[in-house]
Amino acid sequence: MPSAVKQLGAAIAAAGGAIPFNQFMQLALYGDAGFYTTTGQAGRRGGDFITSPEVGPLFGTVIAGYLDECWEKLGSPAKFDVVECGAGPGTLARSILAAKPRCLQAMNYVAVEISAAQRSLHPKGVESRETMPEHAINGVIFANELLDNLPFRLFVFDGAWLEAFVAQTPDGAFVEVLHKPAALPAVLPQNVALGSRVPIQDAAFAWVNNALSLIERGSLLLFDYCTDTTAEVTAMPWREWLRTYKDHERGGHYLLAPGSQDITAQVVLDQLPTGFVAMPQAKFLQQWGIDELVLEGNAYWENLSGAPDVAAIKMRSRATEAQSLLALDGLGRFTALEWSK
Ligand SMILES: C[S@@+](CC[C@H](N)C(=O)[O-])C[C@H]1O[C@@H](n2cnc3c(N)ncnc32)[C@H](O)[C@@H]1O
Repeated sequence: MPSAVKQLGAAIAAAGGAIPFNQFMQLALYGDAGFYTTTGQAGRRGGDFITSPEVGPLFGTVIAGYLDECWEKLGSPAKFDVVECGAGPGTLARSILAAKPRCLQAMNYVAVEISAAQRSLHPKGVESRETMPEHAINGVIFANELLDNLPFRLFVFDGAWLEAFVAQTPDGAFVEVLHKPAALPAVLPQNVALGSRVPIQDAAFAWVNNALSLIERGSLLLFDYCTDTTAEVTAMPWREWLRTYKDHERGGHYLLAPGSQDITAQVVLDQLPTGFVAMPQAKFLQQWGIDELVLEGNAYWENLSGAPDVAAIKMRSRATEAQSLLALDGLGRFTALEWSK
């Protein structure tokens, strides 16, 4: 199979010398030799970064409680749609199923994941798919750290806003070239510093819009690292909002070694469809019972600490998992976004 570098080179040549940054990101992450198509994934061992579901089963246990309440709000229907998008290797699905929510019998759990390698790791009991379902959803669509990974366009201020394209030099390196855009996204702020950079997240907007259009009754719940406004992102050093990861470390420049590192950005809230309620992940998890689950875990452990079994050890680890999930200098300051219908 041609490498990501070769495939990008071919796409650049076919486009007459340069492709927009979002096409570069699409091929670098999801092309035939892309990062997620080949080896990239969340996880502690063998993964490239840790996400809330990968901290341990507690995050999924909280989400299971959220699903129960949504199911009951809908009148406990015999069929309850649960769609997780960007499901990775299926860790969150595993934790939710293991938590045995009251809605389990009614639940039709669909795990949507673009990477076939990761779909092959999904647990029994879920319907594994490459693309979103197209039928009406009565239930919940949710995603953890999906939007930040959807390809975005990149704009650079050089006296005027210009769009970043990617070209290839004769020695094979990828370089940025700036083109005057056919139309300027209305969300771009004026009077910004020379050299300011900003993502234009059309794909994230379209994904949310599509998810909302599928939901007949229920909710859309997303967790991600977010910044409120495009103007705020413009004022940030770009390496803070546009990041790369590999093997649990920050990676190199986003044009280097395509296919071998993740490329991700802060999700910009004023570029998403409106109508959501936003709160810090820590507050959301507390609202949905994480503290009570930790207390339950401690009590279970104390009862069995003389002769602990595997369940008791898992229960005890809830306390340390909660510390990571709630940390205000870490996962706890991510944002939970909820749209309800
Ligand atoms: C940062 S990982 C998060 C994985 C998992 N949700 C977690 O929290 O551990 C993002 C995942 O979204 C998947 N993904 C990206 N775009 C997608 C799309 N359009 N449809 C389905 N999955 C997608 C990637 O392949 C990757 O597995």
